[in-house]
Amino acid sequence: MAGSAEVFGGGTAVITGAAAGVGAGLARHAALALGMNVVLADVDETALERTCSDITDDGGRATPAVVDVRDAAAVQNLADRVTKESGPLRLLVNNAGVLQFGYLWDTPVVNWERLVAININGVFHGIRAFMPHLLTQSEPAWVLNMASIGAVTAWPLQTPYIMSKHAVLSMTECLHQEVALAGARHIHVSAVLPGAVTSRIFDDAGGVDSGDLTAAEQEREAMFQVRERAISPQEAAETILQQAADGEFYIVTQPGSVLAAMRARAEQLAARRSPAAARSRFTAPRPK
Ligand SMILES: NC(=O)c1ccc[n+]([C@@H]2O[C@H](COP(=O)([O-])OP(=O)(O)OC[C@H]3O[C@@H](n4cnc5c(N)ncnc54)[C@H](O)[C@@H]3O)[C@@H](O)[C@H]2O)c1
Repeated sequence: MAGSAEVFGGGTAVITGAAAGVGAGLARHAALALGMNVVLADVDETALERTCSDITDDGGRATPAVVDVRDAAAVQNLADRVTKESGPLRLLVNNAGVLQFGYLWDTPVVNWERLVAININGVFHGIRAFMPHLLTQSEPAWVLNMASIGAVTAWPLQTPYIMSKHAVLSMTECLHQEVALAGARHIHVSAVLPGAVTSRIFDDAGGVDSGDLTAAEQEREAMFQVRERAISPQEAAETILQQAADGEFYIVTQPGSVLAAMRARAEQLAARRSPAAARSRFTAPRPK
């Protein structure tokens, strides 16, 4: 089986949400270990410049693009520009995502709308902008959409996030079928389902400003504990790009826990069992 450097080396990659965390790990690995020309797209200009210079200082090819994935026109502009300047695209990773803690009924409308706009619309904007270019090129291309173990798990106090990751998984499964239907055998579509990866996603996640603030913040604390067992973005990146090179549709960074969650979900649905209480190992209180 081909190594990831053989498959991706020398090609151009676009990674959204690449200034930090999982996206930055993917960008570093793609540029430095695989020799890709990487365009890092992110809304955080300062972090973006820093991550790009870290990569170029280490000898990699990295270009920053300040892009908000909520803005369909900005993503379209990115796709047109990269394709014009760099030629065929080898890899697109629709990675940008944010998280939200708290009871669904306490969730501020603005937080809900922001999360949906980034986690779901952002992936759609990437597909809509890049796919027409990929369909007309003859070189092979890989499209990875960042879901999560949360895409196959029901998890209270993170409902908007969990819902969005189910949407990304579903969008990616249907996209995979559509690419086959369109006869585009050179385009490989995959869903990425990481378990915990070290990043600032829990620090930067939204909370609630009325209702049960304690439940929201205790859930954030519980996730800080989960993060202590997380893998590094570097490790995640190596696994993700090797599994993509191997042709996996469901890319899992921690096969033990993620495949167990997939099995549990399939069995729960087939047995028509209602979602089990998920909190026993954490300290989240019962609603008052
Ligand atoms: N860290 C984990 O444990 C974990 C697990 C499973 C899935 N994921 C997924 O991985 C992806 C990256 O998460 P992370 O943990 O690296 O988070 P992170 O917060 O470290 O990084 C997210 C990046 O996305 C950028 N971003 C946010 N809004 C944006 C927008 N509107 N347009 C462009 N960029 C934007 C941020 O500036 C940041 O650089 C997310 O989709 C997340 O759901 C993460």
